[in-house]
Order: sequence, then C-alpha cells, then structure tokens
Amino acid sequence: MKRKFLLLIFLNFGLIFAQQDTTEQVIDFETIKTMNGKQIYETFCAKCHGIDGTGNIPEEIKQSWDVPPPDFTDPYFNTREARKDWYAVIKYGGRVRGLSQTMPAFGDVFSDEQIYDVIEHIKSFVDQKRYPQGELNFIRAHYVTKAYVEQEFLLIPTYTYRVENGHNVNDTKVVLYYANRFSNRFQYEVKLPVQNLKSCVQNTTGIGDLELGLKYAFYDNYKNLSILTAGFEFSLPTGSEAKGFGKGTVVLVPYLAGAKGLGEKIELQGSVKIEAPVNKSKGNPELIYALSTTFILPEGRRGIFPGIELVGTKTLGAEEHTISIVPKIYIALTRRGHLAISIGREFPIYGGSPFKYRYVGFVLWDYVDGGIFSGW
Ligand code: HEC
Repeated sequence: MKRKFLLLIFLNFGLIFAQQDTTEQVIDFETIKTMNGKQIYETFCAKCHGIDGTGNIPEEIKQSWDVPPPDFTDPYFNTREARKDWYAVIKYGGRVRGLSQTMPAFGDVFSDEQIYDVIEHIKSFVDQKRYPQGELNFIRAHYVTKAYVEQEFLLIPTYTYRVENGHNVNDTKVVLYYANRFSNRFQYEVKLPVQNLKSCVQNTTGIGDLELGLKYAFYDNYKNLSILTAGFEFSLPTGSEAKGFGKGTVVLVPYLAGAKGLGEKIELQGSVKIEAPVNKSKGNPELIYALSTTFILPEGRRGIFPGIELVGTKTLGAEEHTISIVPKIYIALTRRGHLAISIGREFPIYGGSPFKYRYVGFVLWDYVDGGIFSGW
C-alpha cells in the first residue's frame, strides 16, 4: 500500500524530475524514514518551493500551474499560518484548505514528527520570534477586541430596538472596518459607522464618528497559546451629534487585549478599555470590559463555531453599570476560513436594559488569504 503511494507521488513529480535530469530518482522508504525536515524539504519540496523557500523556480516548472508557489520568506505569510494548517496541507494536499491541487498530498510518506520538522524548516526562513504566530489568530469576537494583528476587512452590523421618549426606535448601524499590519507587531485600523434611526417621528441616515486605531502585540507564545496586546483608538466627531450619530467630541480609547487557548478546543479572549470623551461635558469616561469563549468544534478551518460573550460597561464617577451576555455563532464559510460571518443576540443581565433587544453581527474577509471567490 505504502509503496503504491510513493509510486503515485513519483508519477506526479515525474515531469519535474525529468526536467532536471534524465535518470529517475528512486528513494526507498527506509531512506525516507531517516531523513530530517531539512533533507525532506530539499528532496521533496524544493523543486517547487525553491531551496531558499522563495518559490523562485524555473519558469518551465510552474508554467502549467494554476497558482504561483507561495513565498515562505515573506514574514507575514510565513508567521500567520498555523503549523496545524500546514500539517493538513502537507498530509492531505492543497485542496484541504481550498488551495491549489498543484500542492500534492504526501499522505503517510512521512511520519507526523517529520512533517512538523519540515514545517519548522519552512518556518526557519523567517525569524519567528519577531512576529506573532498564526496559532494565536483566534476567532474574532463581537465585543472583545482582538489581540492578534490582522489584515482584514469587515462589515459590522448592529440592530437595536429600544424605546426613547416613549417612541419605539429601530437603530441600525453598520461599521465599515479596515485593518492592516506594519512593522513586525503593529496593526492600524479605520472604522466608519453608517447609521439609520427609524421611529414614528424620524427616519434619518448618516455617518457616525470616524475611529482610528493602532495596536501592538507585545507578548506572544504559541506553545502556551497566549497573546497580549496594547492599543489606542480615538474617534473624531464626524457624526452629527444633534441627529444622534456622534458623541460631539473626540473620544480617547486606550485598551489592553489578551487571548489564551485552553487546549485546542476552547479559546478565551478578553479586553478592557476606557472610553474617555475629551470634552468632559459630553459625558463621563466609561470602563468597558469583555470576555469571550469560543468552542472549536470543526477539525478544519471551515465550520460552525459557537461561543458566548460577556460585556460590562461601568460609567466612571457614576452609579451606572450594565452587564449583558451574548450567545453567538461564528460560521467560517471557506476551507481557508478567510471568509466568515458571525451573529449574536445580546441579553442584558445586570443594571437594567438600555434596549428591548439587540443583534450583533459581522461579515469578515481576511483579504490577504485570497479573494472572495477562492478557497471554497
Ligand atoms: C508539485 C509542486 C509542489 C511540491 C512538490 C510541493 N509543493 Fe507545496 N505548494 C505548491 C503550490 C503550487 C502551493 C500553493 C498553493 C496555493 O496557493 O493554492 C503550495 C503551497 C504549500 C504550502 C502553503 C500552504 C498555505 O498556507 O498557503 C505549504 C506549507 C507547502 N506547500 C509545503 C510543502 C512541503 C512541505 C512540500 C514537500 C514535502 C511541498 N509543499 C511540496 C507546490 C508544491
């Protein structure tokens, strides 16, 4: 059975090897068993990925491919991919993560230890310590600020139904969110809310306060699955305060965010932030804390991930303190997990209710992991 598999692989590579030299390369299983990650890489992978991992290989090898080989020396690409995902790709082929079938499946040719050793060899093309590792890219929550540095585009809708001055108000808000990385551990982001307020006395749409943010992942350890990040956001009063779309002042928002994996099946995330209006007459500063748990049920990246969040808002210098919980589900649509939707319903549990009901959601696109139509 094993021999048959090896034969199949060589049939696949026949072309590639043939172009290098005319004598057939035969490597028996006993020899393969003795090879370390670097040797395996140089024997089985370098033909397509380049000895140096750049993917700079002769044109004639890749001309029939549907995609170019990746550049393993690109630090963001190399470090944002979790070892477990690469394991799946090497063992089961590119298809398992919605990648090209040009990336072959190696099945049982190598032992698990050997596969992880090849992965470490590929990881060694980049100084891993300088970058937060992909293992710490936990599933995004609704209220908890994400600790990992991202390159993402999101649409974040919130629908709230509440009573204001005796009128029922439908408050629909969609935040356009863009995040990108720079340097080794930084991320910046831009958020623009668009809001519609509808009741029997009004139906108005407008933009809210533009928010800009910067964060820095100052600690990460992929072996004990933990990451800590400090960040700073501020909003500008671009929204009309009179119409209810803005705070009417600059608001400063320093925060801390952290996340920890409990084994492979549970992700815990938390954040604390202070929202402080610069013009004090516009309201007291608020302390907002949030905790989230997500359950990793699917084996791969695609699937349904249920979770629950708790969010508290304490007005500093006043009595008000509200807490709510948000049961939620996150659905990763593609095999690469780079397109996802999440929806939750918020239930106030302490300190009264500012609304009758509220739904929170987002649509997420990890734009560096591929286009919207790839990876399904
Ligand atoms: C026949 C050519 C070929 C061989 C041989 C090959 N690869 Fe690949 N590999 C590719 C191509 C092409 C891609 C890009 C797939 C895509 O982006 O859709 C890829 C992608 C990958 C990825 C990236 C997955 C990601 O997250 O984007 C890893 C890791 C990888 N290969 C590891 C290996 C290892 C390890 C070996 C040897 C044991 C190997 N490859 C052998 C062609 C090959």
